[in-house]
Amino acid sequence: MRVGILTGGGDCPGLNAAIRAAAKRGFQLGWEIIGIEEGWKGLIEKKFEILTNETVSGILHKGGTILGSSRTNPAKIEGGLEKVVNNFKELKLDALIAIGGEDTLGVAYKLSKDIPIVGIPKTIDNDAGGTDFCIGFYTAVQTTCEVLDKLHPTAESHRRVIVVEVMGRHFGWIATYAGLAGGADYILIPEITPDIEGICKTIEKRAGYGKNFSLVVVAEGAKIGEEYITKKAETDAFGHVTLGGAGEILAKIIAEKTGAETRAINLGHFIRGGSPSAFDRILATRFGLKAVELVSKKEFGKMVSITGNKITTAPLEKASEQREVEKDVYETAKVFF
Ligand code: F6P
Repeated sequence: MRVGILTGGGDCPGLNAAIRAAAKRGFQLGWEIIGIEEGWKGLIEKKFEILTNETVSGILHKGGTILGSSRTNPAKIEGGLEKVVNNFKELKLDALIAIGGEDTLGVAYKLSKDIPIVGIPKTIDNDAGGTDFCIGFYTAVQTTCEVLDKLHPTAESHRRVIVVEVMGRHFGWIATYAGLAGGADYILIPEITPDIEGICKTIEKRAGYGKNFSLVVVAEGAKIGEEYITKKAETDAFGHVTLGGAGEILAKIIAEKTGAETRAINLGHFIRGGSPSAFDRILATRFGLKAVELVSKKEFGKMVSITGNKITTAPLEKASEQREVEKDVYETAKVFF
């Protein structure tokens, strides 16, 4: 067997752990594993490397992806999907393992009628459907939680309200989980109607019992008024706008309405970096092995997934059914607002 593997979309911690697991298991089965570079771009431009035990050893703990990544969308390039199919054949591949979020796995689904393909879900946003958790999410939560721990004393010392903006695109998974873990005093996410008065009341209530500082976590996709807050008008190859700036705006509004001194910090790509957490290393390793199992059983057109703590599978098209953060987890965090 000659099996290709690629990583597409935004990088995240744990990608290397998945590549390592799939490749090492493949080698044990006597397969040749071809690393396709920079996501779908590598299959359009035939950029690849033959993976060996040497290239995939010692990468378990490393962030990013040794294969590189891109947001190339073959469906938006003239003849792109055909090029991918032809190059898959020219490279004499028998199967492809695509590691990605809803965009990359959405392309994988489109291609699955022409090439044998399985998917592994990853994204710090944790919004891909078909799985409870995606690779990278819990590391981003951990990193954000550590930042909140560091901001806490400075907010307290200066009696300030610090607004912390985090990625997550149109969903509040990272904001909710990290805010809950880090004891945020308010969490604003796209899934709920913004309640600016509620935020200000919380801040004033805390000041009333001597806590004249607060940490507010806001998801980049949270609407402050009617619209998403964006950095630029253009969209990427998958039609996504570049979100950013909600934290700055919210900090100004809080200052105006409460008179509190405010600061805003946007964690941006910072939380996509660093070493994967133990959870993500384990999840990625289990996903990598399961993907190889699917290939060996010729169960194509599927993605690996985790349900509870069980590694399962779902149809590839499920990845595109994006998911809101669980209401009960948000409600848990809300108890402490
Ligand atoms: O999809 C993951 C993600 O990190 C989003 O949370 C964020 O909005 C986006 O990628 C940023 O994309 P880029 O890496 O292209 O700036």
